[in-house]
Amino acid sequence: MTQPVEINFTDNAPDKIAEHQGRVALVLTATDRLPGKLPRPAREAASRALASKAGQALKPGQVMELAFPAGMEAESLLLVMLPHDATQPEARRAGAAIGAKLGRGHMLVMAGAHKLSNDVALGLALRSYDFSAYHTDRDDADDAARPHVTFLVKKPEELARVAADAAALAEGVFFTRDLVNEPANVLTTTDFADRLHAMEEIGLEVEVLEEDELQALGMRALLAVGQGSESPSKVVVMRWNGGGDEAPLALVGKGVVFDTGGISIKPAAGMEDMTMDMGGAGVVAGVMRTLALRRAKANVVGLVGLVENMPDGKAQRPGDIVKSMKGDTIEVINTDAEGRMVLADVLWYAQERFEPKAIVDLATLTGAVIIALGHDNAGVFCNDDAFADQILSAAKSEGEGAWRLPLGPSYDGLIKSRLADMKNTGGRPAGSITAAQFLQRFIKPGQPWAHLDIAGVALPPSATDLAPKGATGWGVMTLDRLVRDQFESK
Ligand code: BES
Ligand code: MN
Ligand code: ZN
Repeated sequence: MTQPVEINFTDNAPDKIAEHQGRVALVLTATDRLPGKLPRPAREAASRALASKAGQALKPGQVMELAFPAGMEAESLLLVMLPHDATQPEARRAGAAIGAKLGRGHMLVMAGAHKLSNDVALGLALRSYDFSAYHTDRDDADDAARPHVTFLVKKPEELARVAADAAALAEGVFFTRDLVNEPANVLTTTDFADRLHAMEEIGLEVEVLEEDELQALGMRALLAVGQGSESPSKVVVMRWNGGGDEAPLALVGKGVVFDTGGISIKPAAGMEDMTMDMGGAGVVAGVMRTLALRRAKANVVGLVGLVENMPDGKAQRPGDIVKSMKGDTIEVINTDAEGRMVLADVLWYAQERFEPKAIVDLATLTGAVIIALGHDNAGVFCNDDAFADQILSAAKSEGEGAWRLPLGPSYDGLIKSRLADMKNTGGRPAGSITAAQFLQRFIKPGQPWAHLDIAGVALPPSATDLAPKGATGWGVMTLDRLVRDQFESK
């Protein structure tokens, strides 16, 4: 997997900052606070830059780059503004602004006594993600060519513990991004399950349920989606047991490794993006990785439904009626509304087997959520106001956009079927809500549950604050925070 850049913290200033090759970044709490260790000509240049109009306009988290600073061997000097009272998301954005300019070689970050240095480092690591597995001209095998970063801080030993947690978080996010960025000829259901199984090495319990077992469990809705594919459908269960005998939090993910739409086939334009339709499962996997790496004191079970939605002689048809594991029947109006059929069975199985304290499902479920919220916010649906607030506040403190949308019985009419208990689409109006309403049919009364529609945020069309263009890993930080704040014994 793509490894986060190596970051070390030290209070040991190199004797000669002037001789540092590569880049030097200064984290500044105010425009007139330049560190004394900077060689004088560079200090004067930086001082003038900061006094300029552009310098004065620098906002928290923004960066200004001085190329080939006088009196230094460095390629560039990066000035990034971060007031003492900055928020965590601002500190991560400041780090990200530096991380976007990491390049190759060694970067020295002079962070002084800033109390958010750890968040700066996390932002730097997240933004410098580079998925280059298929660029044959890049020689990543060459370790010497890999960039590395030294943070010059006042109290490195105080940072050590939080830095380890941040590294676990970055690794979880990178795991999710890699999964989402992988093409579907590589990340088949089998390859995906293998990558999850390999997480036994870091202490997760991982089970892979194969088609015959899914059949025996009665997961006919999930199997119906995958029946047109050469790749076998699978459900993977990942357990992290760090919380004694508490009932677990269950995380459920949609893992459609490729969504052609099936017989209700999608238009050609943009179909290549449907490699990301396993994004929900990717986030669940990334969170589980982080929890294991940081040895969280909580019980969390991650369940993902891995299928491929293909048109084929064996594929399901519009008009088919299938019986879910729960027993409710579904009329398939549109084979492209496949995610909810996968989730229906996995959600039911999660409740039957684990009796979870709460459930969060994540899915790139509807195009309609992009029409509603664009690429800035995921849609949050929840049957419990207190739980919804916990999720929204976790997202807010991690700086990930999330916005609550309604559920309600008045939408049920839209998915009423003449022939079966429900149909799998409700037409264009309120498309994300009817999808959520469909999922809720598979949630037991009294079971706290939230559904996060991440279709707009998993793979946005351009770079974000903390990610280069491509997969963002949206949700790993929010769910890790939710576990920390609500499910972990202190
Ligand atoms: N995977 C798609 C949703 C999607 C669209 C994700 C764009 C990311 C970007 C989902 O399976 C789907 O096709 N949904 C349909 C539902 C419709 C047929 C009711 C949609 O949104 O058009
Ligand atoms: Mn679809
Ligand atoms: Zn889909």
